[in-house]
Amino acid sequence: MNALETNGLSKEYTGNWGKRTKVSALNGLTIQVEHGQIYGFLGPNGAGKSTTIKLLLGLIAPTAGTGSLFGISIHDKRARERVGFLPEDPSFCAYLRADEFLDLCGKVLHMDREQRKKRIAETLQMVGLPDKATTRISQFSRGMLQRIGLAQALMNKPDLVVLDEPLNGLDPYGRKELKALLQVQKSQGKTVFFSSHILSDVQEMCDQVGILNRGQLVECGKLKEMLPVRNVRLKVSTMDMDTVNRLEPLVASMTREHHHWIIQLEGASRTDEVCAILRGHAQQSIEITRTTETLEEFFFRRIEENNLERGITRPEPIMAMAEA
Ligand SMILES: Nc1ncnc2c1ncn2[C@@H]1O[C@H](COP(=O)(O)OP(=O)(O)OP(=O)(O)O)[C@@H](O)[C@H]1O
Ligand SMILES: [Mg+2]
Repeated sequence: MNALETNGLSKEYTGNWGKRTKVSALNGLTIQVEHGQIYGFLGPNGAGKSTTIKLLLGLIAPTAGTGSLFGISIHDKRARERVGFLPEDPSFCAYLRADEFLDLCGKVLHMDREQRKKRIAETLQMVGLPDKATTRISQFSRGMLQRIGLAQALMNKPDLVVLDEPLNGLDPYGRKELKALLQVQKSQGKTVFFSSHILSDVQEMCDQVGILNRGQLVECGKLKEMLPVRNVRLKVSTMDMDTVNRLEPLVASMTREHHHWIIQLEGASRTDEVCAILRGHAQQSIEITRTTETLEEFFFRRIEENNLERGITRPEPIMAMAEA
């Protein structure tokens, strides 16, 4: 059983009062998130990420399709018992102190007084606010608000943490700490599903990734298998002239470095063929390094391709307009 699943999940927003316009925010989303994985949910502004998250949390109803958390339908409120949630741009009761706010969250979660006291101290420590327990939320900076939001999402020790742009507003320390915190969740067997625009962090952290564009899933799967290999570098100790001649038409370059040969291939398609030739000529050792596209390169390429396929033209960027 997956921790999170959707099947053909769709959402169409109806327009404002008196307007008949409809916005198709999500079209037939089908994804699976395995237990104990960190899943990065990506897409340009307006792609449908927050809509998906609200559907999963039962905050809005789908127009079509289904979804489940730990095998329980998203229409059933029991699906959310093991979930912690940080919304996009959270706002809190500003007049409460951090500990009072978390205490209130604990009460909503039916935790007893002792449990609440212990967990408030733990979560404030986890999000780097141990000294802010008695500070009013109205005095919090943007990054601190994000941290207290994260603390409330972790209050009930959730098995699935759903975070809508948790890296927003965090300073470099905060980003680093959040990444470490999510890794700890993973090491405890918890599942993390989060949306983000910070692709380098997503590449560093995530096992699985889904990319949305204008309501449609463009890519999904394991990150390691998703990013295409850009080039392959082989390091071998010796090569005779016959091997060099046979490899020449197959490789991008062959150079001697110190006591080794460095062979570069464009893409990965000829790796097996090249290795077979090297092994056939009794080479002692072959060290292979693969360089993949970065997630950022992959993201831009796939979104552009998807836009082209769907005949979508992006509005002129601000910079281009300024120069025109
Ligand atoms: N309440 C609403 N009523 C009408 N349209 C909405 C509503 N909420 C969102 N939308 C539209 O649905 C689409 C998806 O919005 P959503 O907030 O899910 O995007 P997102 O991927 O989270 O974007 P961002 O990266 O900016 O947070 C957008 O076109 C948005 O304008
Ligand atoms: Mg959003």
